[in-house]
Amino acid sequence: MSNPASMNIIGCGRVGKTLAYLWHRHRIIHVQGISNCSIASAQTAADFIGGGTACPPDKLQPADFTMIATGDSAIAACATQLANAGILRPGDTVFHCSGALSSEILAGLKPCGARVASVHPIKSFAEPAFAAASFSGTFCGIEGDPEATARLTPLFENIGGSPLPLRSETKPLYHAGMSISANYLVTLLQWGLDALEQAGLPPVTGLKILEPMVRNTIDNIFTLGPAKALTGPIARRDVATVSCHIDALQRWQPEFAKLYRALGQETLKLAQRHDSALPAQEQSMKEILTD
Ligand SMILES: NC(=O)c1ccc[n+]([C@@H]2O[C@H](COP(=O)([O-])OP(=O)(O)OC[C@H]3O[C@@H](n4cnc5c(N)ncnc54)[C@H](OP(=O)(O)O)[C@@H]3O)[C@@H](O)[C@H]2O)c1
Repeated sequence: MSNPASMNIIGCGRVGKTLAYLWHRHRIIHVQGISNCSIASAQTAADFIGGGTACPPDKLQPADFTMIATGDSAIAACATQLANAGILRPGDTVFHCSGALSSEILAGLKPCGARVASVHPIKSFAEPAFAAASFSGTFCGIEGDPEATARLTPLFENIGGSPLPLRSETKPLYHAGMSISANYLVTLLQWGLDALEQAGLPPVTGLKILEPMVRNTIDNIFTLGPAKALTGPIARRDVATVSCHIDALQRWQPEFAKLYRALGQETLKLAQRHDSALPAQEQSMKEILTD
């Protein structure tokens, strides 16, 4: 059996540790140098992975792959540092793991002969041991130089990842879509809980009573699709109820009434995808939501 390809890791935190642990354990990659802000943190990463050597960035040796898994704001500076280190060889692959940034941020490495890409695992890496155990089946948005994506695709597939080709120029919108779906869902639930609390239900009770309804809604979304999963007064074009919600929110916090209307307009468009109401009902609903 041939030796596994080598990899340096610059920025070995939650994502770096998880991926490197899996590649090392499955003997897919020989983890070489690990460079973090501090040597102590790089050593902790090497201990977790079970391989690799903690070293400062200027002591990294040439490797087939370099993964830059620092926070997004440090990627550009790390790429410049890597170019200046003079260790890249023609054909080496360098990639980062950001969801919002494209491989374009690594373009400065191309004159060294490196092929560049980004691979964004669509997963929440809260705790590396847990993330490694549950990595299988994770979609990984991938884009960049064709030679780089061709080399990276089997690396991720061999640890259970499912590469999803992306267009470089659409990465910010792709990542906004992820954030809206995952993060705004949390914000909306907190807003709902605050409204329940304002109505006299303490948060612990609010969470308890929302759980079955929200879980059921999520199931319906993934089984039926969002348009068919939509229920409630806007889907029914119940103008009186929507008007009563807006009045109550206006009395509580006027900006909440504004937000309810803005989201209501999008909700009405979604309802219209599934069914149509009488023109007069549709018009009244539109008016009350635009005000
Ligand atoms: N967390 C997620 O759920 C998730 C999911 C998908 C993609 N991503 C992406 O994955 C990347 C890494 O995220 P993360 O959550 O793993 O970050 P993280 O846990 O904060 O780890 C970042 C690591 O980078 C090191 N670092 C920071 N600046 C550095 C520099 N200038 N030189 C060398 N090392 C440096 C830090 O070192 P120290 O330990 O010494 O401070 C730390 O170990 C980001 O691009 C993020 O957008 C994250």
